[in-house]
Amino acid sequence: MPRPLKPTTSYGARSPWDTSAAFEESFRILRSNLSVALADIDRPTVIVTSASAEEGKTLTCVNLAFAFAAAGRRTVLVDLDLRHPNAHRLVNAHNEFGVSEVLLGKRKLEDTLQYVELPVQPSGPQTGLYFLGTGADVANPAELLGTGRTSRLLSGLAAQADLVLIDTPPVLPVADTLVISRIASGALLVTAARLSSTIAVSKAKDLLIRNQTRLFGVVLNKFQARDASFGYGYGYGYGSPARAEPEDVTAEPPSPNGADSAHIAGTL
Ligand SMILES: Nc1ncnc2c1ncn2[C@@H]1O[C@H](COP(=O)(O)OP(=O)(O)OP(=O)(O)O)[C@@H](O)[C@H]1O
Ligand SMILES: [Mg+2]
Repeated sequence: MPRPLKPTTSYGARSPWDTSAAFEESFRILRSNLSVALADIDRPTVIVTSASAEEGKTLTCVNLAFAFAAAGRRTVLVDLDLRHPNAHRLVNAHNEFGVSEVLLGKRKLEDTLQYVELPVQPSGPQTGLYFLGTGADVANPAELLGTGRTSRLLSGLAAQADLVLIDTPPVLPVADTLVISRIASGALLVTAARLSSTIAVSKAKDLLIRNQTRLFGVVLNKFQARDASFGYGYGYGYGSPARAEPEDVTAEPPSPNGADSAHIAGTL
């Protein structure tokens, strides 16, 4: 039985659950598909990343954390995007201190972890969503993340949770994510429909695989119903974006009235 997590602060979440039923459902499907991929891993740590910026890593990671926690899995959401921290905003938590302070030995983990109250609290002891923000900016994120302290931090969290989900920077512009992926169980690669470059996604996939990172799947984010040629009420697609045709990835902004569907698009 894992040790209990002891967060110091508790926040009522500003739920990133969108009001759209299709959006919620897409995260349930994503949760279910990822659960299958994680079935053989004890206390997994999963990084959520993408090839380039703004493809929806943070939104996906946070909503997935909510989906797992809502299903009664004790879930820890960690923001390791030390260059562009954003997850705290989506879970309505503070970012006054976090990973940086723990890694630099300025704070203990148990005094840093925050508890996020879910809109509907799952039953059962020790369930729920816990959050660890980035904390203060550091000068050398990749170096700090590459230390044994980061590895010990993640394994310490994993020992106390059913699942650790980690928001990270994009793979191509900085080294941080490859450094983190070496100490995680594997990765989910987020792509944005009609926005991601096929070449960039393919390059990111190759880098992760060369880095011995297990790829659990690809999430097709910012996917709108009209993208689906085989429509249900909302689009749902399997297949690797690495095999997508270039015309599938031209840029188009997401709908202004909220989030579009996010789907696990297939394993690589
Ligand atoms: N499915 C979606 N539907 C609509 N808007 C979305 C969706 N996913 C992400 N966005 C929007 O796209 C922008 C980028 O999302 P997000 O911050 O999650 O991306 P990111 O990959 O984490 O970016 P960064 O690389 O800067 O960390 C945000 O404004 C977010 O609200
Ligand atoms: Mg982000």
